[in-house]
Amino acid sequence: MRQVSVGEIAQESPILKIEDLSVSRSGKTIIKDIDLTIEKGEFVGIVGPNGSGKSTLLLTILGVLKSQTGTIGIYGHPPLSRKLDGRIGWVSQAASNLPRHVRITVHELVQLGTINSRNMFSFVNDERRERVKKAIEMVGLEDVIDVDLGRLSGGQRQRAVIARALASDAEFILLDEPLVGIDREARNALLKLLDQLCHEQGKTILMVSHDLTAMLQTAHRMIFLEETIRFDGAAEKFPNLETLADLRGIAHVHGDGYMHHHNHSKEEV
Ligand SMILES: Nc1ncnc2c1ncn2[C@@H]1O[C@H](COP(=O)(O)OP(=O)(O)OP(=O)(O)O)[C@@H](O)[C@H]1O
Ligand SMILES: [Mg+2]
Repeated sequence: MRQVSVGEIAQESPILKIEDLSVSRSGKTIIKDIDLTIEKGEFVGIVGPNGSGKSTLLLTILGVLKSQTGTIGIYGHPPLSRKLDGRIGWVSQAASNLPRHVRITVHELVQLGTINSRNMFSFVNDERRERVKKAIEMVGLEDVIDVDLGRLSGGQRQRAVIARALASDAEFILLDEPLVGIDREARNALLKLLDQLCHEQGKTILMVSHDLTAMLQTAHRMIFLEETIRFDGAAEKFPNLETLADLRGIAHVHGDGYMHHHNHSKEEV
């Protein structure tokens, strides 16, 4: 059999291929019948009500949670495969809530992102130093590079966590609610940055957010998840509330009852 290099695999197979996935937690089925293929350079947004399994799906892709049925291939490898080392970036909402008593500067946090199993015991070289610098510039935190995270605003901390993922040079970046707690200006800058990463650097992004408006403006492709995938298509084709209610199997009560019952903001799903 011919040896295939990692680079070749990346070009031949999709970034992510999920087939017939189901995941249970504490004996309860949380997501099921999930089929999802994501190609290089796509910016995919996932929306869905609270508790619909969005984080569960991301954690299963990352290999933190185990599936009951189905398969997940990332560059053709199962989650947690050593071949994926350094190729997947992860930004969680929890990560920005770093405990305030932990004293770590922006620069230190971002530099942690460049550590992988191959360079763990070596000194930081120029190439890594450059990646750290660039990542911090990309998120606009140059001015606070040596400031303790505990002294930054929530939005700045969130951007620091994103810079850590960028510095890792990961090609596939998963984000879970990265927009929570950051102001509008920072949010727009972040969305623009993510868009640039896809278009200019060929990164692939899978992002969960409650901010439907922001997602529709940025993501090329939208997924509505509620136990299973109920919509998957171009952002422009994202269903209106009525169609969404049909997809969710909800009877029309007041037309827009879904928004009122589940959310406080019109921007949320
Ligand atoms: N450790 C756990 N054990 C059992 N059930 C869990 C566990 N964690 C989450 N769940 C349940 O799994 C379901 C999906 O949770 P998940 O966090 O994936 O939803 P989500 O779509 O990310 O919600 P949110 O929008 O609130 O972040 C919820 O009903 C939740 O109660
Ligand atoms: Mg969640």
